[in-house]
Amino acid sequence: MKRRPLIAGNWKMHKTVPETLAYIEAFKPLVAGVEDRDIMLAPPFTSLDAAERALEGTNIKLGAQNCHWADEGAFTGEISPKMLADIGVTYVIIGHSERRHIFGETDEMIRKKIEAVLKYELVPIICIGETLEEREEGKTLKVLETQLKEGLQGFSSSDLKDLVVAYEPVWAIGTGKTATPEQAEEAHAFVRKILAEMFNQEFADGVRILYGGSVKPENVVGLMARPNIDGALVGGASLKPDTFAKIVCFG
Ligand code: G3P
Repeated sequence: MKRRPLIAGNWKMHKTVPETLAYIEAFKPLVAGVEDRDIMLAPPFTSLDAAERALEGTNIKLGAQNCHWADEGAFTGEISPKMLADIGVTYVIIGHSERRHIFGETDEMIRKKIEAVLKYELVPIICIGETLEEREEGKTLKVLETQLKEGLQGFSSSDLKDLVVAYEPVWAIGTGKTATPEQAEEAHAFVRKILAEMFNQEFADGVRILYGGSVKPENVVGLMARPNIDGALVGGASLKPDTFAKIVCFG
């Protein structure tokens, strides 16, 4: 079965509010007619409120790049899912490899964040992926299985009805070295198999699994042709409206 594609742009730490608004004004008309796939932009926290207002009435949803798990409290510098829901965010990227490897985010923290995101009826995008060393040591599938099981333990399939998984091989992020469609499909098919074992086949068949790691207009078609690749989580190539629009409008 082919699931409804989701093409998401993770801007990471880029763009001020004026730059965000200028981007949205340029991007909106380029994807205005797109109805057969979901589109998401994930600007930095500082731009989310203005972006939500600028995206009102469009086919473009808003995502956050992270969140804390508490509703509120003495967590300096953190943002709660309650605050994200309040300004109309739809998706939350959780456990991005940069948060895992730069900021030491653990599977336990990721599980708590998913729980909090679900409490506010936001859509969690859980990121998983192996490092180059892990791939070279033949540990890729074991890493993916562990990250999935640790991050999703304790939830039911109905809790996770809107779950999105993003497979982002760390060695392909920001490097220009994209996984081949075969490599990506192998990982995605394995993720779906693990989800079926953890929950059930119907649930697994319904989960959208995005690929992330140097997605460009030149390689998105080959990736999206694979049966278990349901979309893309795009970093660098999402920073220019015309480039990201070409990826969104693939096929
Ligand atoms: O979250 C998506 C990101 O990690 C991929 O980055 O620049 O390789 O497309 P990039």
